[in-house]
Amino acid sequence: MKNEKFTVEHFIKSKQSGRKISMLTAYDYTTAKLLDESGIDTILVGDSLGMVMLGYENTLQVTMEDMLHHTRAVTRGVRNAFVIGDMPFLSYHTDSNSAVKNAGRFIQEAGAQAVKLERGAGVIDKIKAILNAQIPVVGHLGLTPQSVNIMGGFKVQGRSQEQAETLLAESLQLQDAGVVALVLECVPEKLAKLISERLSIPTIGIGAGKYCDGQVLVVQDMLGMYRDISPKFVKKYAELGDGIVQAVSNYIDEIQQAAFPEEKHGFKIDDEIIEKLY
Ligand code: KIV
Repeated sequence: MKNEKFTVEHFIKSKQSGRKISMLTAYDYTTAKLLDESGIDTILVGDSLGMVMLGYENTLQVTMEDMLHHTRAVTRGVRNAFVIGDMPFLSYHTDSNSAVKNAGRFIQEAGAQAVKLERGAGVIDKIKAILNAQIPVVGHLGLTPQSVNIMGGFKVQGRSQEQAETLLAESLQLQDAGVVALVLECVPEKLAKLISERLSIPTIGIGAGKYCDGQVLVVQDMLGMYRDISPKFVKKYAELGDGIVQAVSNYIDEIQQAAFPEEKHGFKIDDEIIEKLY
């Protein structure tokens, strides 16, 4: 629990001091408020909401309107955490003007403090344009789920010599462009360590090992609520899925047995009024 706003400056300060950065996804007001209360540094309104909130198979169908709707809900619940809006598929791929406009909508219409974009060299001009509009950007390399059809599935990235060299080069390119932090997803631990050591901006790992400067998980994964897939890198800090199923079946049973509601859950009226109605 802490009572200090995490700002863009805290990314670099954390890197310099060696303090690890905590990040979780959130997509709604109630969860965001609880995460903020717990003292999380940063909240990512990830396009993973396509899978865990909307039930899609991947993130490709998520729209700007979906993202803004959920980002607005999150920022209403947050006081101290730094909120990052995830730019969805095709919102920054065509040209820099639309990339800046879409990034700006996260800030202007939804109250986020930064945006995140997937990939490196292929979108570097868009990243620079967004930064030029004074919008902080978080980069994302390694497994970039919006490229699932090109990658041929959700696979670990950077294992071959060529891939590892490209990942390192693109990390440096993103840093030079001015991103405030870099998410590394499904990257071998030793490669993520080397990249983290070479960069002066913090790396935030997901399936990238313990040497990253921070960690991010999808909140429904770490709370044991999303059970369609179970990535190896997820640690479950709770089994809320089981808890919810148990609680709801207790509720159903108690309705059947007329054990709920009890007297304390109801509202009273004078008996006289009721008698007159008979
Ligand atoms: O969309 C998302 O939640 C993400 C994180 C997994 C990094 O991009």
